[in-house]
Amino acid sequence: MKIPFLDLGRMDETLKSRLKSRFSEVMEAGVFSGGKEVQVLEESVSSFLNSRHSIPCANGTDALELALRALGIGPGDEVIVPAMTWVSTAESVILVGAKPVFVDTDEQGLISVDWPNAITPKTKAILPVHLYGKMVDMKPLMEKAKSRQLFVIEDAAQAFGAFQNEKSAGTWGNVGCLSFYPTKNLGALGEAGMCLSQNPELATKIRLLLNHGQPIRDEHELVGRNSRMDTLQAAFLNVMLEDFEKNQEKRKAIAKRYLEAFSGIPELTLPDGILAEDHNAHLFVIQTERRDKLKFYLAEKGIGTAIHYPMILPDMKPFSQTGDFKDSRRLAHRGLSLPLNPFLTSAETEEIIREVRRFF
Ligand SMILES: Cc1ncc(COP(=O)(O)O)c(C=O)c1O
Repeated sequence: MKIPFLDLGRMDETLKSRLKSRFSEVMEAGVFSGGKEVQVLEESVSSFLNSRHSIPCANGTDALELALRALGIGPGDEVIVPAMTWVSTAESVILVGAKPVFVDTDEQGLISVDWPNAITPKTKAILPVHLYGKMVDMKPLMEKAKSRQLFVIEDAAQAFGAFQNEKSAGTWGNVGCLSFYPTKNLGALGEAGMCLSQNPELATKIRLLLNHGQPIRDEHELVGRNSRMDTLQAAFLNVMLEDFEKNQEKRKAIAKRYLEAFSGIPELTLPDGILAEDHNAHLFVIQTERRDKLKFYLAEKGIGTAIHYPMILPDMKPFSQTGDFKDSRRLAHRGLSLPLNPFLTSAETEEIIREVRRFF
């Protein structure tokens, strides 16, 4: 049996035909930038996440950059960022001319509660990441940020559909950034992203920035750029959104099965709180000192796995920074993502379980 970590070509035929017919509709309508599909996506996400403003853009990395720009963060400013995340989180800070200041995470990869120790007179914002789909504890974070007059930009790229105290990931901070990269729980058939904001002025600024500073055509109020979402991607996302909750149930059921099956293995650290509402079960990351051997063993058995991520940002050349970052580094050495997606059959899930147990 060959079990890929994730194969998006395994979408079921009915979904494929719904996507194809939506594609035909867009072709017939002849509108490929903006238009009805983008508008519908905006309204659907606003209603599903209970967000006042949901602003579609080209991808999640742009969403972060637009958020930082809209908040006026730039040269001379510092932004607190977790050491363990996807590069976009720090990249966006550097792209606006500011400096990312890395802090350690907890054992599960969420920014350490000690982050205020990294505050300096230059600190303007904190950028918490809801890594693997699990939300950072937002209430205390928001209180600490507010008392120090810092902006909060949530990197919710991996956390679409996670809610804490009934408040969605991305709607706690000044701006929340989503990615609809194809591998995400809500994924496009290409690149797409979104900024969430509850503040009308910020939302307007983000809309201007992503469309060459134009409130209306040929009227330019500021220097912006083109980061508009493709109409086609919005159309595909509207179709994908119809299946979102059903797919979430599948992910949670597989995660539950993994937890039951692996709970007796003392060598393994399992994902914390993956069945709770504030985790969208994006990734199932297990941790073991024998990570590389396990990855190799599973590959030999035809089971694909992935590492999110093998190196922490401050250890990478473009983001180089000194520091201990003990827990982030430990996660980079020990973490292994098992297949977790709606295409996995129960026979495949059981096969993965059997092989992981056999290894230990
Ligand atoms: C934590 C995190 N931040 C930002 C991004 C950037 O999103 P995108 O790939 O859509 O640019 C991603 C997704 O890859 C991510 O996982």
